[in-house]
Amino acid sequence: MEQTTEARRQTQSREWFARAQQSLVEGVNSPSRGAAVYMPGPTVLERGQGSHVWDADGNEYIDFMMSFGALIQGHAHPVIVKAVSDAAAAGSHFAAATSAEVEAAERFCRMVASAEVVRFTNTGSEATMLALRLARAHTGRRKFLKFEGHYHGWYDPFLLNAHSHPTEQLGSVENPARILDSEGIPSSTFDDVVLAPWNDEAALENILRAHGHELAAVITEPIMANMGCILPRDGYLQRLLELTHASGALLILDEVVTGFRYAPGGCQQYYGIEPDLSTFGKALGAGFPVGAVAGRRAILDRMRWGDHMVLHYGTFNGHRLTMKVIAANLDLLSAAQIYEKLHATGNAAIDGLRDVFARRKVRAIVQGFGPMFQIYFSDHEIWNYRDYCKYADTKRYSNFVHALLDRGIYMTPSNGLHWIISTAHNEDDVETLIKAADHACATLS
Ligand SMILES: Cc1ncc(COP(=O)(O)O)c(C=O)c1O
Repeated sequence: MEQTTEARRQTQSREWFARAQQSLVEGVNSPSRGAAVYMPGPTVLERGQGSHVWDADGNEYIDFMMSFGALIQGHAHPVIVKAVSDAAAAGSHFAAATSAEVEAAERFCRMVASAEVVRFTNTGSEATMLALRLARAHTGRRKFLKFEGHYHGWYDPFLLNAHSHPTEQLGSVENPARILDSEGIPSSTFDDVVLAPWNDEAALENILRAHGHELAAVITEPIMANMGCILPRDGYLQRLLELTHASGALLILDEVVTGFRYAPGGCQQYYGIEPDLSTFGKALGAGFPVGAVAGRRAILDRMRWGDHMVLHYGTFNGHRLTMKVIAANLDLLSAAQIYEKLHATGNAAIDGLRDVFARRKVRAIVQGFGPMFQIYFSDHEIWNYRDYCKYADTKRYSNFVHALLDRGIYMTPSNGLHWIISTAHNEDDVETLIKAADHACATLS
């Protein structure tokens, strides 16, 4: 399937992207899809099937980005396609009580151990926003703690230190510089945010000693998925949970990326921790927009109608068509051996890439395991935001991925994201990736 760079003409992609400048800001609907990341512009995708996608010029690729992880079943899985067409034919949404939402919620609560109840939203950002509101209402406290380099969606108070910056701008570990990710947010919003370095128990203990009593919540990704793929140190998540509870705060585990990916019950199952609240999105909807907040009934019950309730409205909450997709998706994910296969395929890709880098004497490491991983052009392991800012050669990574795009591998050139294995990927896809990576290494200066 490998094609030469020359064969991969991008005439149509270029034309669409030029045309898009007239009607869309930067020609796209999110900066991560446009010229800020892809050079000289994005490959315009038109069709997907299984693990493959085709662009506007008819070029074929194996997709390892998978809609930023949303496509856990790959593209156009027949069971999902049938669920969608059946649902659409009977009415896609009523904004009324449906059996579809009950069936989706029952499956969800069966799979996620900490989910006594669940509330569906439309995106991961809405889920984290709601989780924070619930935590504030439940504890009667205002502040919350977020970690450097963690991204929890684009809701105002989360937009602190979610992007990478030169190390000299980061301040000290004891007193991290607070770097806003967006204009248009009143600076007072961040008065309620306590910022901490991740994967560092001692630093967390110190910060909680000073601020723990005023925190409604600590929010964390279980595996950092927005600085590539950074694993928690052994025992870190358990300690984080203990320290959070000792402060009287709630732990919000943001499983928007990791949920339904590492295990049927998410990273909380994989690492054996029980958060108070957790948030989901991406893989839950198998390509359809959805988010969810799950956790203890006593906390989520604060949304019950009445005085002092936590308000959560939404025309599209519990969208019927999406609920049908979720039920079908979770049934597929409950089949025997699914997670074993996801892990085996991902680990084969990781091992193959490590071999290529070793053979080609390219200074690169692969972090993560199974269904999600990232390549860093670095000699150093990356354990947190500061390591990423210091050691990850993001330019070299972008060059490498552009070389892969020319060789039939679809991936975002942004080092902050990660490679995704779906149930549609197989050994042949891994083999093609390894060959393409081998050739791409030869292009690196
Ligand atoms: C960890 C995490 N939380 C929340 C979100 C926000 O989800 P969404 O993009 O669906 O709003 C993201 C998105 O990438 C994420 O990575």
